[in-house]
Amino acid sequence: LGIVFEMKIKLYSYFCPENCLTDFFSILKALVFRKIRQGAIINFQKKFSSIINRRNSFTFGSGRMALFAILKALEIKVDDEIIIQAFTCNVVPRAILSVGALPIYADIVKSNFNIDFEDVKKLINSKTKAVIIQHTFGLKPNISELIQFLDENDITIIEDCAHCLTPINDPRLNIDKGLVFFSTDHTKLVNTHVGGVASCNDPKIAQRLASLQSDAKGMGVANIIRLSFSIFIEVLAQTTRLYTLMRPFFFVFRKSPLYFSWDDGHDCGDAVNRAGGIYKFSWLQAVVGLKQLEKIDQIITHRLRLSKALNIKYSYYNHESGLPTLRYAFLVDDREAFYQLNYSEVKHSTWFVDPITGGRELYEELKYSPGSCPIAELVSSKMVNLPLSSKIPVKFYK
Ligand SMILES: Cc1ncc(COP(=O)(O)O)c(C=O)c1O
Repeated sequence: LGIVFEMKIKLYSYFCPENCLTDFFSILKALVFRKIRQGAIINFQKKFSSIINRRNSFTFGSGRMALFAILKALEIKVDDEIIIQAFTCNVVPRAILSVGALPIYADIVKSNFNIDFEDVKKLINSKTKAVIIQHTFGLKPNISELIQFLDENDITIIEDCAHCLTPINDPRLNIDKGLVFFSTDHTKLVNTHVGGVASCNDPKIAQRLASLQSDAKGMGVANIIRLSFSIFIEVLAQTTRLYTLMRPFFFVFRKSPLYFSWDDGHDCGDAVNRAGGIYKFSWLQAVVGLKQLEKIDQIITHRLRLSKALNIKYSYYNHESGLPTLRYAFLVDDREAFYQLNYSEVKHSTWFVDPITGGRELYEELKYSPGSCPIAELVSSKMVNLPLSSKIPVKFYK
């Protein structure tokens, strides 16, 4: 019934991915020429490293698997503590728990929805092995606060750039290992349907990541076929003029065994269980990803123009925080009223409506104590966000 109601014309989905039907020419070409297939992952990794300015990049089946690999490469062990922010995706603390370590939640700041360094300082102890710095919606953490924090604390930093392609490259900061992970799932700036990348500058960590990548499970032919169907149907379903028409069909397709996705509960550490463990990125994802990396400057420029247009209206961000590139996110008193009154051509959906996506029933399992991060809880109750994508013209948000 919900779908019938939703048949009101919607032009834009809540994430509007950047890939398009022409990507299939590249897939067909790669199917014909083995050399393209064989070189695709290396080419993707090289191009990715040069865009994000790190020496090494290694692809994995998802962002959480890339984080898991980084934690393994750092030799994080049982009972070690990793500080992360609340207002995050549940797969982040899950990856930490999968290596046997404990996620410790710090609160966030309202201005950019990123970790509050003052809170982190209170949580650091002898068991703390790393702090994950998330770039929520593609917003930078406050660099001067980070510089001061690192002057006072000698601690490993891992950047969570699941929402962007711009890790910290500030010359004032010497984040020596340069550890960062990305997600290339279908809601992100680069869409390979599912996927992730772990990058670094440190040669020893790079060697370990290479070996974890080579030991990871292959996707297998059946999953590559499911991936290609999933990408194809999603490209059609996310085409502006076809979106409403395709929704019922897409709804059914997503329930079918042909649709590929990782379950949020996927255990990266579960090597015994056939379904668990970490997976490789396939040539198909690399081919599709490369198409988008080739036009990444245009993608980011357009998204920033949309963000700027929205910021003129809502003035949520000042110059220091920069502007988001994944979704334009800000706080309102009444979320439902905002969505009913604004941008009815968008299929609205909010990231994140809980301090940890998935909500209360996951708190115990993921070691979050309700009430411990009040700003993250407040922000998640008042958050709205709007999609940014090259498929949306700037005049739509003016
Ligand atoms: C902040 C954050 N970190 C990590 C991830 C993990 O990405 P993936 O779904 O590719 O595992 C996500 C997923 O959206 C995320 O939002």
